[in-house]
Amino acid sequence: MTTALTTGPLTTPDHAQAIEGLAPVLTARNVSIEYEVDPPVKAVKEVSLTLHRGEILGLAGESGCGKTTLAYGINQLLKPPALRTGGEIVFHDQDGTDIDVATLEGDALRAFRWDKISMVFQGAMNSLNPVIDIKAQLFDVFTTHRPSMTKTEKLERSRELLQLVGVDPNRLNSFAHELSGGMRQRVMIAMALALNPQVMIMDEPTTALDVVVQRGILREIMRLREQFSFAVVFITHDLPLLLEISDRIAVMRHGEIVELNTSANIFTRPQHEYTRKLLASFPSLTGDRGSFVRSGESTEGSAL
Ligand SMILES: Nc1ncnc2c1ncn2[C@@H]1O[C@H](COP(=O)(O)OP(=O)(O)O)[C@@H](O)[C@H]1O
Ligand SMILES: [Mg+2]
Repeated sequence: MTTALTTGPLTTPDHAQAIEGLAPVLTARNVSIEYEVDPPVKAVKEVSLTLHRGEILGLAGESGCGKTTLAYGINQLLKPPALRTGGEIVFHDQDGTDIDVATLEGDALRAFRWDKISMVFQGAMNSLNPVIDIKAQLFDVFTTHRPSMTKTEKLERSRELLQLVGVDPNRLNSFAHELSGGMRQRVMIAMALALNPQVMIMDEPTTALDVVVQRGILREIMRLREQFSFAVVFITHDLPLLLEISDRIAVMRHGEIVELNTSANIFTRPQHEYTRKLLASFPSLTGDRGSFVRSGESTEGSAL
């Protein structure tokens, strides 16, 4: 059932075994994306990867390597001059239907984006609407996507969502400028959770936050994942962070995924030269290798 990766990124037999039998929720095959500028930028080159149900897949790589472009491609969000020049992206819906993301447009695409896959954009916490309160912004999602919901239901669900992400529900009447950066980011995550998506793409969701706030939010994301079993594509250039929270990590460089493996394998047995270099560039990782501990998790282990 699982599509094993036979070409593309480096991987190991251990990895193949770890993912065997897991149901895929999203498959990207040989995806290429270009910015049609002069000269053209090949931002994503023949990328293949499978995201499994309930899995946290980390996407690591230096700034400019194509992480955001790939995320936009997965979500069918690319706008000119960006163009998908090859490959396919298939969403494997809970109900058994396979959806070819490239065929989606108009209402079907809008529904897909919040319902099936939601995204927390890079810099999202600064993109809340400054002139309407948090409640109105959450209500907007429901009005568009769940037109049959009553006002009372919307209010209940909005309060519940804020509670889920650790924000006092009384904050519903607040405006963005009245909230701290961490709270704004939590609100964005609440919005992404609003319709119970099967996949959440988070593009550098904690990069602008201080370490303590960042940890709190990550713990929340991991707890929510346990509770609702959505899969996460977690994008960041912060490899140490990914090692802690991800089931698997894809290492991206110059538009290609050069290595894809479990976090433990990436850490203890990196296969690609670039992965080794990337690991070595974080002093906190180069000490005692035995100290690799996945924090924030119980002993029952992860999806893998
Ligand atoms: N609108 C654009 N026009 C031309 N090139 C772009 C555009 N947006 C991004 N790029 C280029 O595409 C590459 C990948 O960018 P991006 O996906 O944002 O990387 P990352 O998210 O990993 O930092 C970079 O070389 C970047 O300069
Ligand atoms: Mg980016």
